Formats: sequence, structure tokens, C-alpha cells
Amino acid sequence: MDPLNLSRRRLLGQAALLAGAALAPAAWTPAVAQARLAEYPFKAGIASGEPLPDSVVLWTRLVTDPQAPDAGMPPAPVAVRWEIAEDEGLKRIVGRGETLAVAEAGHAVHIEASGLKPDRDYWYRFSAGGHASAVGRTRTAPAFDAEVSRLRIAYGSCQKWESGYYAAHRALAAEHPDLVLFLGDYIYEKAASKDALRPHPATDCLDLAGYRQRYAWYKADADLQAAHAAAPWMVTWDDHEVSNDYGGDQDRSPTPPELFLKRRAAAYQAYYENMPLRRTSLPVGPDMRLYRALRWGRLARLSLLDDRQHRDRRSCDEVSKGKMIPASCPARSDPARSLLGASQEVWLQGELRSADARWNLLGQQTLMAEVISPDATVSNDGWDGYAQTRRRLLEGWRDAKTANPVVLGGDVHTFFAGDLRLTPDDRPLASEFVGGSITSFGRSREIVNGMLTLNPDLKFGDGDTRGYGLVEITPGTCEVTFRGVENALVPNSPVRNLAKFVVEDGEAGLKRA
Ligand SMILES: [Fe+2]
Repeated sequence: MDPLNLSRRRLLGQAALLAGAALAPAAWTPAVAQARLAEYPFKAGIASGEPLPDSVVLWTRLVTDPQAPDAGMPPAPVAVRWEIAEDEGLKRIVGRGETLAVAEAGHAVHIEASGLKPDRDYWYRFSAGGHASAVGRTRTAPAFDAEVSRLRIAYGSCQKWESGYYAAHRALAAEHPDLVLFLGDYIYEKAASKDALRPHPATDCLDLAGYRQRYAWYKADADLQAAHAAAPWMVTWDDHEVSNDYGGDQDRSPTPPELFLKRRAAAYQAYYENMPLRRTSLPVGPDMRLYRALRWGRLARLSLLDDRQHRDRRSCDEVSKGKMIPASCPARSDPARSLLGASQEVWLQGELRSADARWNLLGQQTLMAEVISPDATVSNDGWDGYAQTRRRLLEGWRDAKTANPVVLGGDVHTFFAGDLRLTPDDRPLASEFVGGSITSFGRSREIVNGMLTLNPDLKFGDGDTRGYGLVEITPGTCEVTFRGVENALVPNSPVRNLAKFVVEDGEAGLKRA
């Protein structure tokens, strides 16, 4: 092999390994790495996430042309500097460093900035190729044993770009929450439809280049960038980050599992590259650890689930009409089947037992409540297809006497609020709040009203309005406000309160506020 080629390969290999390191060794080829870029390279914005009491992840991905292959970036590594400060003007710098953005990692940069003080705001900025990024605001978590008086979380899901404008993101950025929680369908993988309000390229995402380009396209949106720059994010995914209704190695269409896992690996790699995640989530082939927990002092704990990667194969496909299966189909109630997989269920049960926080939030992809349709069918794509996983979770809360469990969800493009109990005769064990969708079209009023009638524990539903949820937690109460966009089909539409609920400490069951 040509020795020049070999050394270049080694360099790129090392660069890929060290892409997330805080400081690049002095041996990097500065002539290549520090070349000026003709175009502004921060067109995908900046972000932060995964706050701990002493550290936070700072993220960017160099993109000079969101519509071009490779996001318009040259194949050579590019030096990226970062800095984090105690003030918005970036005068009191408390950390800085330099790393490389490399093509093998989609020119993404993940910095784990450490040595920070707990429970306070910070501001950060990147620079590369002679350009500086916008300044982002982030926040560290309180010390694990701190008594905390308040936590505000804005949460959303399902932001199909072609279906509307991101007024919800613009509004949630203006709320200055402590944390933003995104519960899946960050991108949609399909080609744009003919009647798309905002068309994007007319091809399905099938490989790494395709997924990378879709993220670049979405992330060019100014309102989405504002939401990322406003607060640290915690994220999990749903199906459309890979393929509609997939589970484990199983596509909804009959793709051979070994081929589907290749696609999943590409999608997970692109997801990691485009989210402010810690190195603990770095994918290995088609596998990626996404379930994890966040503590906010003694006030709150947030456990985030991954209900896509580890689930068993779908129940009752052989008798299904699409995803709808007879509620009586035995496989859906088979205790050997899991929506979360054995390892995640063991971890989750440990979370419930060790939870010492006043409020124990569960962030997950979808509606958890059972909904049996008038024709006695249920969906096999969520908790209803894996009824024993839901039972084990509810029994876990009951047996561990977990304090104040509250479930936050997405996926169904509809605002729902309701209570969860083991049987209709039991008292509620938890309340759940599904935060609508940022833009994706929802269920008709007729279908939503039917669901409310069929499950009386669902107290509120609205599939007509796009938006997000705002959670405000104090030691005594958890208030959830559904915030609705007046019209997501036009830019900059105003946002108003759609409904407000409260759960009081020690009293499971929501009340309308
Ligand atoms: Fe969705």
C-alpha cells in the first residue's frame, strides 16, 4: 500500500476516534485543519444537552450547504474551537478547547465540557474556518442532594418538516426552560409528499449520506436552532429516525433483518452525529445505548426510555390489519414479550426502586394508556402490543411506592392527558401527558373523541392543534400546560394555552387547573 495513503488513513482513523475529545493533540496537520472556509459553517446551528451538576455536552455539526451532498463540507478535517463562559457576553470564560470535525463523523463535534458549577446558566460558542457560531445558553443540573424549588421542562415530538412551520420551537425557546425534552420523530425518513407545505428532497433516507442530509435540512430551520440554543436538550427517538413503525430488527415492510440492521446502523450513526449526546451513547454498528436517567437534585428524576431498539417482534402480525390487531390476540399479552427488552426492563425496575426524588418522570415515545377500538382492535406498535410490559411497569410503581410518577409522551400527534391504573377498580398509579406534535398532522376530532369515550381515564384529547407541553415542578405540585400553535401552516403563528393540569404531591391523578 502507498505509504502516504496509509498515513492519511491512520490520521483519519485517529481523527474519527478523537472527534469528541476536548483537546486535539498538537500533531494535527494545522495547514489542513485550520484552513479558512469560504462559506459560514454553522448552518446547522449549535446545541447542548445531557446536563450533570459539573458538566454538559456542547454540540455542533459543520454544515456550509444543507442541501448539498456532504453538507457542502470538504473531506479534510477542520479544526473547531469552543468556549464556555459564566456570562452571555463570554467575558468570564471557564473552559475552552480545540477539536477536529472529521468527515467520518459527519463533521459533528461533541464536547463534554466539565469542571462547571451546579445549577447555573452558562453560555457557549464555537468557531471554525474563520467564522464564529451564535452564542447558546445552557445550564448545569443541581447537585444530586440539593433541595431544589423549581424545574421547568418544555417537551415536544414529531416535527415533520414538510407539514408545517416550527412556531412551537420559537415559542418554547422564548419560555427559557431549564431543559428541553424531545421524545422522537426528530426527522421523517420518507421522501417529501407531493402536497408538502415545505418540500424537501424527493428520496427516502436509506443510507448514512441520506440520513445526514435530512438532518442538515431540518437543522437549517431558524426556529429549531433557537430552541436548541435556548436550553440543554435531553432526547430519545421514535420510529421515523429510522423507518416507519420499525421495531428491533423488523421493518414494517418485509425487509430481511440483516439488511434492515445495516439501515438501522446508518440511521443511528446519523442520529448520534446530530444530537447533543454523551460518548456513552456512541453507536457500535446497529446498537446504541439511549435509555438513561437524569437527576435534578432531590426534586426530580427523569428516566428516558428507548422503546424501539430492544423490543421483541410485533405481536399478531399474521392476523393484523396494518398495525391494528384483535385485542384478544394472545401474543400481545404474552409475559415473555417485551417492549423494552430484558436489560432495559431490569434497569427501569431498578430506577423505580431507587428513586429518591420527589417527582419521578418517565420520558417515552408514545401514549401509554390502553385504547381498545370499537371493533375490539388495538395497535401492535406501542404499549398495547406489549401489554405485559405496561403491567410490569405499573406494578413496579405500586410495589416500590415510587413517589409521584408522571409519564410524558409523544408519537400520536395528539395532546392527551389521563391517568394510568392497573385495573378500572384500582386507584391511579400515575398520570400521563402526551405533548401533541410540533408539526405532524394529528388524529381527527371524531377519532380522538372516540378514544376518550373508550378509555375514561383519558381526560383530555386534541388532535387538531400543533404545539408542545410545558412542565413546571415544585416540591408540592407538577403543573403541565399544553401550549397550542394557532396555525402551524403559516410562519410565526402565535401560541396560546390549550389546557392546564395539576398533579399534587402524594395524590396520584390529575386535576384540571
Ligand atoms: Fe410522529
